Amino acid sequence: MTRRFSATALDDALVRRLLAEALVAPSAGSSRGVDFVLLDTPADRHNFYSLTTVGDWYEISYQNETDGILSAPVLVIPVADPERYVQRYGRRDKAASSLSGLPAEEWLTPYWLVDAAFATMQLLLLAEDAGLGALFHRLHRDPADWLATIGAPDTVIPIGAVALGLPAGTSAQRSLTETATIKRSTEERVHRAAW
Ligand SMILES: Cc1cc2nc3c(=O)[nH]c(=O)nc-3n(C[C@H](O)[C@H](O)[C@H](O)COP(=O)(O)O)c2cc1C
Repeated sequence: MTRRFSATALDDALVRRLLAEALVAPSAGSSRGVDFVLLDTPADRHNFYSLTTVGDWYEISYQNETDGILSAPVLVIPVADPERYVQRYGRRDKAASSLSGLPAEEWLTPYWLVDAAFATMQLLLLAEDAGLGALFHRLHRDPADWLATIGAPDTVIPIGAVALGLPAGTSAQRSLTETATIKRSTEERVHRAAW
């Protein structure tokens, strides 16, 4: 993840290509219930951060940085829509599925979140491949107010935000060094038949 960005604008065609290619990530039942909201003007990014952060994180800590997270010229918000999955699995060709007719609250695995994570990961990899820096970060509060300002239904779920831009500073400056110490070996995390 990159946490220091230059404010240099990104080529719009490049951003459009990355978004299009990320959206071909696998989707349960081809429900395609993941959308991206592209925020690539200072006003739209300001509106987003004003309505999705708490305390002084935005107003004081980051707004004054010249090459921090908020300098990233492009923000992409991956949004999952449970309704599209419920509708898709209600169609005739899914009648035999145990998910057919199941309300969103009863799905053991919320596939809209799985798909949104897949598309987001694909976007991160595509960005890296294109020589950009990228950061996935969470939303710090209920996004209902922000969703209302963009005219989105309140049933959709923004899973976080992807900042995109040219990396600034050295890679050491861009990293969160304290998290590098939290390690679990592959041996510990791959369970051969038994946990
Ligand atoms: C679900 C999720 C939420 C995250 N939220 C944040 C966040 O709010 N702020 C942030 O700086 N990084 C966030 N990250 C990025 C992780 O902190 C990052 O992947 C990890 O620290 C490794 O960092 P590195 O790539 O710089 O080594 C998030 C990652 C995931 C998968």
